[in-house]
Amino acid sequence: MPIRILSPEVASQIAAGEVVERPASVVKELVENALDAGAQSIAVAIYGAGKKKIHVVDDGCGIPAQELTLAVSRHATSKLSAAEDLFHIATLGFRGEALASIASVARLTITSRVVEEPMGARLRVEGGVIQEKLERVGMPVGTVVEVADLFYNVPARLKFLKQDVTERRAIDALLTRYALAYPQVRFRLEIEGEISLQTTGDGDRRAILAALYGVDAAEQMLEVTAEEDNLRLEGFVSPPSLTRSNRREITFFVNGRWVQDVPLTTALLRAYHTLLMVGRYPLIILFLSLPPEAVDVNVHPAKAEVRFREPERLFSFVQRATRRALLASSPVPSLPAQTLWHDGTRSSATPDEAWQLAHSLPSSLATLTQEPGQKSLAREDTLDRPPLLRLVGQVSATYLVAEGPDGLYLIDQHAAHERILFEKLMKQYRNKSVAVQALLQPAIVHLPPADARMIESLLDAVRVLGFEIESFGPATYRIQAMPALFAGSDPRAILQALLEDVDEDETFLQQDLEARVAARVCKRLAVRAGQVLSPEEQRALLADLEACESPRTCPHGRPTMIHLSVELLERQFGRRGAR
Ligand SMILES: Nc1ncnc2c1ncn2[C@@H]1O[C@H](COP(=O)(O)OP(=O)(O)OP(=O)(O)O)[C@@H](O)[C@H]1O
Ligand SMILES: [Mg+2]
Repeated sequence: MPIRILSPEVASQIAAGEVVERPASVVKELVENALDAGAQSIAVAIYGAGKKKIHVVDDGCGIPAQELTLAVSRHATSKLSAAEDLFHIATLGFRGEALASIASVARLTITSRVVEEPMGARLRVEGGVIQEKLERVGMPVGTVVEVADLFYNVPARLKFLKQDVTERRAIDALLTRYALAYPQVRFRLEIEGEISLQTTGDGDRRAILAALYGVDAAEQMLEVTAEEDNLRLEGFVSPPSLTRSNRREITFFVNGRWVQDVPLTTALLRAYHTLLMVGRYPLIILFLSLPPEAVDVNVHPAKAEVRFREPERLFSFVQRATRRALLASSPVPSLPAQTLWHDGTRSSATPDEAWQLAHSLPSSLATLTQEPGQKSLAREDTLDRPPLLRLVGQVSATYLVAEGPDGLYLIDQHAAHERILFEKLMKQYRNKSVAVQALLQPAIVHLPPADARMIESLLDAVRVLGFEIESFGPATYRIQAMPALFAGSDPRAILQALLEDVDEDETFLQQDLEARVAARVCKRLAVRAGQVLSPEEQRALLADLEACESPRTCPHGRPTMIHLSVELLERQFGRRGAR
C-alpha cells in the first residue's frame, strides 16, 4: 500500500482512541473539565450505561460564546500556553484534546455561559463536524455537556465495551472517588434515572467513604494525615483485618488527579509488612499533594500515570504515614458470626458493660489489674492494643486460652512466640545492642554444596543479627555464638532456617534483608505447636506478646490470636436478650 496522509476524520478517531476508551473515560474528562472550571457542583446523568447519553452539568466559570468552537477543536486549551508550563501544571487538563476527541466519536452538544454575558451559547458537533451555527440560550453560569451515541461512528469500539453493569459500575466508582478527592464540591450521579451518589460538598470525607466501601468497611477505615516539608498526605487505609484478594481497591490521587502508580502501590504495601496474610491486599484511598513542579503529569495519553521527581523521598513519606496509622490501631481478628449456627441481634449487655460488671466484682478478673508492675487497663488507652489478658491455660499443647475485658482470646503459641522473638531481636539489632551468648561447644555444620551457595549471600545479614558463623572448610560452617534470645536452641537450626523456602510474602514486601532473615530464624526457633509449656512459660509468653508493637500477627502476617467476644459467646449459648 502506498503511503498516504490519513484523512482528518481517521486521524482524529485514532487520537480519540487514546483518550476515550469507554463511557467512564468520557465522564472522567468532563468531570475534570468541570473541576478545572472551579465548579462547586457537578451533576452527571447517564443513560444506556453511558453509551446512549452522558450529561454533565457544572456551575463553573463557563466558556465565552466566541471561544466555544475553539473549545471543541484539537490542541485548543486555556490551561497552557508555553512549553515550560508543562512542568508546573496545576490543572487536571492541559492537552486541549478531550472535547475534540469525544466529539469525534459521538454526538456532542456543549452549552455554556460566562458571568459577563446575559445568555449562554450552544454548539453541536457530530463525529468531529460542527453541525450548525451557535445558538443563543438562556441558562445560569456554567457548562452543560451532552454526549450522545458514543462510538456511533466506530461500531467496532462498541464491541469492546463490557456488559452494561460493568460500565455503570466503572462510572460509579470513578465519580465516588472524585467525590472523595474533592469533598468541598457537590457531586450527584444519576444512573438510568436513579440517583446513585449524592454528596453535600461540606468537606467531610468520612460520609462519602460508605458510598465507596459500604457502611461496615467504611467504619473500619483508618484515617491518615501527614505533612512533611512540601508534601501532604490525607486519606484512609484499611486495618490489616479488612482486605481484598486483589489490588483494585488501592486508589491514589496526586494533586487531585487519579493516577495508577505501581511503585507507589508497592511502597504502600510495604507499610503493611508482616501485618497482612499472603495474597491479601488492603483498601486504600490516599490523596497526595506536592508542588506541581515535583511531578511530571505529561507521561500517559489518558493522564493516568505520572512521574515523580523524588520518588524515594515520597514513597518513604507515604509509607511512614501509613505505618503510623496502622500501628495505632489494628484489631484482633474475630470469628465471623455467620460461621456459627446461632444468628441473631445484638446482645443486651454490650461487651463494655460486661467488662465493667466484671470489674466491679471481686472476681479473679478484677485482681488481674491489680498485679504489681502491670499497666492499668484504662479504657482511655486509645491505641487499640489487645487488652491485658488473664491466662486460662493451654489447649492441645498448641494454643493458649486467655480472658480479656471483652471475651476470650485464643493465642497460637508458635505464631505469638515468633512475633515476640522477632521484635526483640530487631529492636536489639536496631539499637546495635544484640546480646550474644557464646556456645560452650561450637557447632560444626556440613551442608550440601548447593545449599552452602544459597546461604552465602545471607550470612552477612545473619552475622549482624548476632550469630557468629564462620566458614570452616568447603561447605562447612562453625557456629560459635548466637543471640542470647535463642539460648538453648539448636544452633544448627539457624542454617536450616536460612534454607527454608522463602516465604511468598517476603518477595513483595521486600523489607530489608536483615528483617527477612530475622523473621525466618525466629520462625524456626520459636516454640512449636505441640510443645507443652509450663504455666510460668505461658504467662511469660502472654506478657511478652502484650509488650509487642504489632502483637496481632506473626512476622509472616498470620494472626497470633483469635477473639471470641462475650457477645458472640452469648449468642452461641442462646443467652442473647435473656436478662
Ligand atoms: N466545563 C467547562 N467549563 C469551563 N471551560 C471548559 C469546560 N470544559 C472545557 N472547557 C474549556 O475548553 C477547553 C478545552 O477542553 P478540553 O478538555 O478539550 O481540553 P483541556 O481540558 O484544556 O485539556 P485535556 O485534553 O488535557 O483535557 C479547556 O481548556 C477549557 O478552557
Ligand atoms: Mg479537559
